[in-house]
Amino acid sequence: MSRISTADIKVKRLKQVKITMLTAYDYSTAAMVDAAGIDMILVGDSLGMVVLGYENTLAVTMEDMIHHTKAVVRASSNSMVVADMPFLSYHISTQEAVRNAGRLIQEAGAQAVKLEGGIERSDTVKAIVDAQIPVVGHIGLTPQSVNQLGGFKVQGKDLEGAQKLIEAARAIEAAGAFSIVLECVPTLLAQKITEQLSIPTIGIGAGPYCDGQVLVVNDMLGMYKGHIPKFVKKFANLEPLIMEALQSYKHEVEEGVFPAPEHGFTIKDDVLEKLY
Ligand code: KIV
Repeated sequence: MSRISTADIKVKRLKQVKITMLTAYDYSTAAMVDAAGIDMILVGDSLGMVVLGYENTLAVTMEDMIHHTKAVVRASSNSMVVADMPFLSYHISTQEAVRNAGRLIQEAGAQAVKLEGGIERSDTVKAIVDAQIPVVGHIGLTPQSVNQLGGFKVQGKDLEGAQKLIEAARAIEAAGAFSIVLECVPTLLAQKITEQLSIPTIGIGAGPYCDGQVLVVNDMLGMYKGHIPKFVKKFANLEPLIMEALQSYKHEVEEGVFPAPEHGFTIKDDVLEKLY
């Protein structure tokens, strides 16, 4: 079976079949996300927070993204792997942006890249698409702009902000992106944007009218102890289960219960007897 392609994503949108996307950053998780039939695996730069323990995504590097994208690509065979372009990897020049996008495809094995921003990034999106690299846009709350936005806040609530987001979405579509993430925007604004575009919108904190949804896998599995945004639904609560298992392990090792005979390996008596 071949991987989901941009053409498949287009068909889903035409047929009004919802598109699923989840993040993953490591081999074991990506293998499960892939086996669950999720359309797209996003190696998000949320990696910086949920895996590397940074306060935000700004410290994530190209080397981090390549390292983790490679693991996700090795683990998956059905889902499309989309790699996030980290902060400053596409801001300095379009030439650098194309080169870095190319590294995520050529070295890491991703099938598409995602980058944040609206009209100000449309030339960059076009240049990457011109290099035959499929691009997912990302507007609304763009975490790499956290210092400029003044925090992780809902975007597009007033007339000016909402209009700007509509124009940003149109610009990113015109630049050739095959899909666009809408993060933390009011439900009815996300609906309006979705209706105006011909490419699929993938919402996160953007309500049910988007063409698809994305969540950070650690959040939706209940594995992340940091701040969980209001828009996240915990489809599982693994953290207490994992804590219980870790504490049982500690207890059993300390009490000599683990390892039991069935966890060990035998050696023949005659071999043992000859040892000195
Ligand atoms: O980095 C990430 O995980 C993302 C999603 C929140 C869309 O960009």
